[in-house]
Amino acid sequence: MARVALVTGGTRGIGAAISKALKNAGRTVVASYAGNDEAAAAFSRDTGIKVMKFDAGDFEACKQAVETITKEFGPIEILVNNAGITRDTTMAKMTRDMWDAVIDTNLGSCFNLCKLTFDGMRQAKFGRVVNIGSINGQAGQYGQVNYAAAKSGIHGFTKALAQEGARFGITVNAIAPGYVDTDMVRAVPQDVLQKIIARIPVGRLGHAEDIARGVAFLTADDADFITGSTLSINGGQHMY
Ligand code: CAA
Repeated sequence: MARVALVTGGTRGIGAAISKALKNAGRTVVASYAGNDEAAAAFSRDTGIKVMKFDAGDFEACKQAVETITKEFGPIEILVNNAGITRDTTMAKMTRDMWDAVIDTNLGSCFNLCKLTFDGMRQAKFGRVVNIGSINGQAGQYGQVNYAAAKSGIHGFTKALAQEGARFGITVNAIAPGYVDTDMVRAVPQDVLQKIIARIPVGRLGHAEDIARGVAFLTADDADFITGSTLSINGGQHMY
């Protein structure tokens, strides 16, 4: 039977490309989303991928969602923690709410969903977890203390959990995307974005599919010797 994959934030941007790549790899995919019903409905209609609305930063909501998915499709054996938001501004202007929102959604969600699926993966002696970090968690970014802290946290979380999962056949890896052509990056002021693109050696923004390819690779059944790694996919912008 096809393995069940959950992709958080899986109906738009990088997440949508990941959901499609995992479907093409023969997985039964559930794509979660938090807000944009219209985009999710269109995505589901176009791809035939099941979508589910819940807040990945809310532990109780995640618990209910995992129970529903398990009942309907089977245990989640592939988990892609992709959900992420930005609340960019300088420290001088950043509020506590902007900090909390980014930490809860981007990093808290990794705890929530790993916590809720890890036991099942241990029992199955199989699991693939991919956490989507960021170049800005590796290198820092002006105006992103919240986002850089959350993404950097994801990289540490990945290496710690990889050690716990290893003897149970569970791999835990991170991907650190660079600047990818999505709504999130298009929200960066044009003049700032042009300067960022000028620093990307391959000379372009990434495509969502560039990241999805990495997820398909890391979640393959035979990728069992790759764990605790961070795969940078950033056009050479930061070599880490
Ligand atoms: N280095 C040094 N100084 C900088 C700077 C930088 N990178 N960016 C801005 N500044 C300076 C400005 O020149 C300005 O200085 P002056 O007051 O002396 O003129 C000062 O900082 C404040 O700038 P603003 O008035 O523009 O402040 P703001 O609050 O309106 O905007 C900002 C600041 C939010 C950081 C804005 O510049 C911005 O959005 N930058 C891009 C942040 C970014 O890259 N986000 C990534 C989003 S995509 C993503 O996160 C996905 C991923 O994983 C890669």
